[in-house]
Amino acid sequence: MVELNSVSKIYNEGTSQAFEALKSIDMHINKGEVAILSGVSGSGKSTLLSLIAGLDKPSSGKIVVEGELISKLPDLHASAYRAKTIGVIFQHFNLLESLSVEENVIVPLINSGLDMQTITVMAEKSMKLAAISHKASQEVKALSGGEKQRCAIARALVHEPELILCDEPTANLDRANSLKFIEILQSLHAMGKTVIVATHDPLFEGLSFVSKVLSMEDGEIVNSEQRE
Ligand SMILES: Nc1ncnc2c1ncn2[C@@H]1O[C@H](COP(=O)(O)OP(=O)(O)OP(=O)(O)O)[C@@H](O)[C@H]1O
Ligand SMILES: [Mg+2]
Repeated sequence: MVELNSVSKIYNEGTSQAFEALKSIDMHINKGEVAILSGVSGSGKSTLLSLIAGLDKPSSGKIVVEGELISKLPDLHASAYRAKTIGVIFQHFNLLESLSVEENVIVPLINSGLDMQTITVMAEKSMKLAAISHKASQEVKALSGGEKQRCAIARALVHEPELILCDEPTANLDRANSLKFIEILQSLHAMGKTVIVATHDPLFEGLSFVSKVLSMEDGEIVNSEQRE
């Protein structure tokens, strides 16, 4: 599902500010796996996710997601690929505060060509999965932190992506909301989705449905633990 070969990322390449954020990363994640990407601040987790998402390009190496060589896709194709295959959940939710939950959730489908009835059904399904249906018509600015995050999850899942990338999903959540997030993660796993979570939250340690833990340090994967 996700395959990286000798992927490196140098920021400000060719200048005196050049910084090697990723050093020759090899990584393989199978369809249906939930993988945790751990490591201290600055180790390269967000950089790695942004490359897999096609939001940025590697300096060298190959990234293949679902048979598509995304490290080489031109930008227009990269965004089309993202729109179809990937859902991204960021630490900061990037929601439209003065719109309702449901309006935010349908944003990714606006140019999909689907009719409004189909869009409504997909939004309802996604809000249910993210446990936020009860706030569908509420303005985002009036939501709690945990509710905002579940709204962002519903928006990331509405187009039914096969691959879901989460960057520090519980960083701004209290324990109860973090545990709710983990429940949603478990449902995604049960649905056969592939998920990569970048986190240093100890709540993710030892979860039974996590099959891979990749530890990053200074732009390298220093340990890769595969569980059955
Ligand atoms: N656009 C950029 N230009 C230059 N350096 C960058 C850029 N983005 C990230 N870096 C550097 O690359 C390194 C890895 O950053 P990254 O955001 O991937 O770390 P992270 O593991 O996600 O950290 P955190 O846990 O704090 O989110 C850091 O040293 C960071 O300063
Ligand atoms: Mg980060």
